[in-house]
Amino acid sequence: MAFNDLLIRTLEGQNSGRPPIWLMRQAGRYMAEYREIRSRVSFLELCKTPELACEVTLQPIEAFGLDSAILFSDILVPIEPMGVNLDFKPAPYIADPVRTLADAERMKVVNPAEDLKFIMDAIKLMVSKLNVPLIGFSGAPFTLACYMIEGEGSKNFLEVKKMMHNEEKAFRMLMEKLAESTAAYLQEQVKNGCPVVQMFDTWAGIVSPYEYEEFIYPYVKQVVDSVEGAHFIYFAKDSSSFYPVIKQLNCSALGVDWKITLEQADKALDSKFTLQGNMDPALLFADKATITKYAEKILAEGKNIKGHVFNLGHGIMPKTPVENVKHLVDLVKSSD
Ligand code: CP3
Repeated sequence: MAFNDLLIRTLEGQNSGRPPIWLMRQAGRYMAEYREIRSRVSFLELCKTPELACEVTLQPIEAFGLDSAILFSDILVPIEPMGVNLDFKPAPYIADPVRTLADAERMKVVNPAEDLKFIMDAIKLMVSKLNVPLIGFSGAPFTLACYMIEGEGSKNFLEVKKMMHNEEKAFRMLMEKLAESTAAYLQEQVKNGCPVVQMFDTWAGIVSPYEYEEFIYPYVKQVVDSVEGAHFIYFAKDSSSFYPVIKQLNCSALGVDWKITLEQADKALDSKFTLQGNMDPALLFADKATITKYAEKILAEGKNIKGHVFNLGHGIMPKTPVENVKHLVDLVKSSD
């Protein structure tokens, strides 16, 4: 079958037809094929076995005919070789969180070709089997720091904010090591065959615009500027109040959540970027008529902005009905 390069053409501003569609967290527990493999191996084992990671990456492509695949791994896998003990229960848990200057000093910058060789092997295998682009990804320095500092997800991220303001030297040391590790990791993914990379900044929205500019943006910019030879998509959730800062980034596309419309976002960003999004993943639990109604609004707005990649505004949820995913993908693929 001919290679489907719709995502690449869209990121290059060369698409006048329907938008490409892929879904954040498109491989996972909502699919019976995924649950079957997970009944035999742990999540981390799955991430560390290239043949299995490859099989899982292909599952949603085969089931729905999406326009792009995304590397199967987790944003937290690369922080293990920095020197923390990582577990999934299934939510991430770090037994030895990073809270002090001594903790930050102990962290290593990863050498992805060696420390994450299993991911590079997985990428090569995936690229050899796919006829759509493979998106590589990483967490953004701040979102990774959130897990490293709290040790797990959190409601108010108080430890992160305490460290940012009371232990600034330690916080910045950690962020610098994360930015260097993330840049090297994404560069290595590109070298091994990913034509597009996405950086997930899921927790950026917990801070004020002042703190975003001072403590988060410089490290995002450092990573974006370091990756060459691939399209860069930056996804920061709850970030529309940061757009005056974010619009200075040199990347191809921005991920947008459902708290702002695509046209509002395009306007605030001076039409500088292709926008990716932005359906609420909870809508996939509604009936097909409701899914159609909201998807059509997003498709219509997508025509009036610089460029559009159809996606959800955040990751697909574990109990999402598979037939609704199929309905959404078919709808977008038959639009014009
Ligand atoms: O998009 C894809 O299909 C690629 C795979 C992918 C996973 N996680 C697989 C996964 C990607 C891109 C991620 C990113 C990720 N991981 C983010 C950023 C995006 C987002 O959704 O906010 C974050 C914050 C994480 C951290 C993480 N990993 C959490 C909070 C959890 C547990 C929550 C949950 O879904 O239960 C994970 C585990 C995880 N990552 C699973 C999968 C398929 C479930 C593991 C299992 O099979 O038990």
